[in-house]
This record gives sequence, structure tokens and C-alpha cells, in this order.
Amino acid sequence: MDRQQISRLAHADHPIAAPLDDASVRGLLARAVPRGDARVLDLGCGGGEWLLRALTEHPRLTAEGVDVSEVPLAHARAAADRLGVTDRLVLHHEDAARFTAPHRFDLVLCVGSTHAFGGLPAALAAAREHLAPGGRVLVGDGFWDGEPSAEAVGMLGDLTDLATTLDRVVADGWTPVGGHISTRRELDDYEWSWTGSLASWALDHPTHPDSAQALEAATAHRDSWLRGYRDVLGFVCLVLRPTAP
Ligand SMILES: C[S@@+](CC[C@H](N)C(=O)[O-])C[C@H]1O[C@@H](n2cnc3c(N)ncnc32)[C@H](O)[C@@H]1O
Repeated sequence: MDRQQISRLAHADHPIAAPLDDASVRGLLARAVPRGDARVLDLGCGGGEWLLRALTEHPRLTAEGVDVSEVPLAHARAAADRLGVTDRLVLHHEDAARFTAPHRFDLVLCVGSTHAFGGLPAALAAAREHLAPGGRVLVGDGFWDGEPSAEAVGMLGDLTDLATTLDRVVADGWTPVGGHISTRRELDDYEWSWTGSLASWALDHPTHPDSAQALEAATAHRDSWLRGYRDVLGFVCLVLRPTAP
């Protein structure tokens, strides 16, 4: 069982692969989608959950998603079929950092996927290249909500505190026009869902050759969360517009 399959099982009950509940996702999309006929791009779209929700909400919206992992993309394709939005969704199986398009987008999403570019500043620089005049970016990334241990830094990389994160985004030429800071409940729900869905699958499939590995992965993840980063990791989503056109 590879990481893609583990991740797909772990997200079975929490399709958005980030610590946000349905109301938060709805609120962020309402703020970020500029028009009903907007053209939307998701860099690192995973199972395409943000795009599927935007497509369902806006019958004239069109969307494109980019991801390196085939397993979540297949899931997105099947979900789009079920929802009847396939004709308005294009999925690209490729590296988001190399993705080019012949047109620009009114909204560029990159939630929980900034690592695809090497971090938040590079992800925003890439998003800017895809943005149409008057467009917006919806980006979601971690931040330190306390003093991280060396182990947490090793696990999650070089983050900053929330105020510094915002200072850097603004210095980079963006103006936040909306946002959401994940609550402790959203953060905990996400981790419980991740570890719980994976562990449940293992217990429901005791004779499957991957059962033991799935249970081990759930246990290891729970341990890293509770011992490594639960008290120091925050997650923020920002709706951004370029400060200067
Ligand atoms: C935490 S998930 C977030 C998925 C989605 N944005 C969401 O909020 O539900 C991160 C995604 O980034 C994708 N990813 C990682 N590196 C990538 C790259 N270089 N290009 C495109 N996608 C990438 C992973 O395959 C995964 O689906």
C-alpha cells in the first residue's frame, strides 16, 4: 500500500484534505469565487473537493485541477460523474509547479499543497502567473501557533507564526480580503478523522494483505500528531488579491 492509497483511505470521511469543516469551506468559497461564470484552477487539487463544491454551487463555473497523484484524481473524476459536472471540469495529472495553461483564471486555489512549490511564497508566485485581472487566490497553509520542537520542525518544515506569515504575504504584494483560521476543533476533527478512517478500514479488512500496514500507519500518524505537533500547528486559509493590478 503506497502513500496515495493510505491518504485516500484516511480521507474517506473528510474529503477536504485540510482541517476545515463544511461551513468554513462554504464561507471561503463564497468569499473567493468572484463570479458565477468564473474560471477556477486548483493547484494540488487532490480529490477535487473544492472544485466539485464550486461547480455544484455555480452552474456556469468551469474548473481545472492539477495533481501528481492518480488515486485522488480518479476519485475526483468519479465524483464529478456522480454530480453531473464532468463537462465543466478538466483534471491534469502532472506536477503543479510545471503546469501551464493557454488562459488565465479568476480564482486559483492551493490549499494544503504549497509544498508542491517548495512553500507559501513560491506557491503564491506560481498562482500569480495563472491569475486573470481582478482574480483572487485562495491559499491554505500551516503556521506555528506555539514554539515548535525540533521534531515538529523536522516533520512539518520551516513555518512561521501567523502574524509573520501575513506580513510576508502582504510584503509580497498581496492584500488579504478574507480568511479563516482553523479552530482547535477543526484541527482535532481532521486528525481524528484521518487516523480513525484508516484504522477502521484496517479493522474492517483483517485478512487484507495491507491491513496491518494501514493500522500501523494510523498509529504512527496519531503518535506524531499527539506527541509532535498538536500543540504548535495552526492552519490558515487566506483569500488574496494582488495589491497592485
Ligand atoms: C493535503 S492534499 C490537499 C488536497 C486539496 N487541495 C484539498 O484541500 O483537499 C495535498 C495534495 O497535493 C498534491 N501534490 C503534492 N505535490 C504535488 C505536485 N508537485 N504537483 C501537484 N500536486 C501535488 C498531493 O498529491 C495531494 O493530493
